[in-house]
Amino acid sequence: MALPGLRRGVPVRRRGGALLIPIARPVIGEEEKQAVLRVLESGQLAQGKVVREFEEAFAAWLGVREAVAISSGTAALMLALQAHGIGPGDEVITTPFSFIATANAVLYLGGRPVFADVRADDFNIDPDEIEARITPRTKAIIPVHLYGQPARMAEIMSVAERHALLVVEDAAQAHGAELNGRKAGTFATAAFSFYPTKNMTTGEGGMVTTGDSRIATTLRKLRDQGQTERYNHELLSYNWRLTEIAAAIGLVQLRRLEEFNERRRANARFLSERLKGVITPIEREGCRHVYHQYTVRVPQRRDALAAHLRERGIGTQVYYPRPINQQPVYRELGYGDGFPVSQQMCAEVLSLPVHPSLTPEELQQIVDAVNGFFEGSE
Ligand SMILES: Cc1ncc(COP(=O)(O)O)c(C=O)c1O
Repeated sequence: MALPGLRRGVPVRRRGGALLIPIARPVIGEEEKQAVLRVLESGQLAQGKVVREFEEAFAAWLGVREAVAISSGTAALMLALQAHGIGPGDEVITTPFSFIATANAVLYLGGRPVFADVRADDFNIDPDEIEARITPRTKAIIPVHLYGQPARMAEIMSVAERHALLVVEDAAQAHGAELNGRKAGTFATAAFSFYPTKNMTTGEGGMVTTGDSRIATTLRKLRDQGQTERYNHELLSYNWRLTEIAAAIGLVQLRRLEEFNERRRANARFLSERLKGVITPIEREGCRHVYHQYTVRVPQRRDALAAHLRERGIGTQVYYPRPINQQPVYRELGYGDGFPVSQQMCAEVLSLPVHPSLTPEELQQIVDAVNGFFEGSE
């Protein structure tokens, strides 16, 4: 069955004569287009009632009291931390194996990201490593639900409780992921991203979700120049608002999210049942993995496999080639090495296309190309 907004079976792009199966492909259909047109014709383009409607729909879908739309996932993370009082001198424990925005949100507020290594089985932060890095200056933990698999939230929440630490979930990659029937983003205040590669998109955009209405009120000020009402500015802040256009796309994408996630899960199953020569991703017990990325481990010749796939028109990506502590901006700040599992993952991971618009033929091409590389038969 075709997803509206897709041309099933039609090669989307050709590059150098080769069919390209991209690593990500946002699914935008007629409904999204009509919703954007309605906003354009309304004359209200900046944050207004469509944003409010998107927030209410998102909060209801997640099952939390409050959702506050923000201009990006990065800004959502930063404002979530700021609203909870994280600031200069505060240490925040997080994973070095994530997109840099996770740690930057802390740095930007004058805090200090403290990294704790991940586990090799699912790439998520190791709760024992978190506990080992707690100091009197530690204020918070940011677990990331990497690639769409929930972090070990029961253990993390229990560490946080024992040491009276705040938790902010980085749920940028985990819309609809679940742990023992509970959605990622409902364990604590959480930040989501709607960047186009994500499980649902608004072009650019983000959302903070929280059960705490006071935090939501602060967030609503922080995203809008610190104002409570027009030209009454209580806090120093900037413009981190979402547009009505983005919210209109988001409302439609949210309705389609479950279908997108089921497709991702079916695509992941197809790949895992057939791929040979690579370590396929696990779905931890009690978890619903939503495969923002389908990431295999290739202990040897990872880059040669990526080149082999590219030659066959298949896009792949290494998320992430370097732990955050090894990025130049962190080196400048004096961060050293010391996270051997993350470093090993950076050398071994390769994400393959898993997005909802893949056709059965494309999925089979991916399997044939990967298996052919290891059999040497292609
Ligand atoms: C884990 C993680 N955190 C934060 C972000 C930041 O989100 P955005 O790109 O919407 O600013 C992203 C996505 O790019 C992400 O993958």
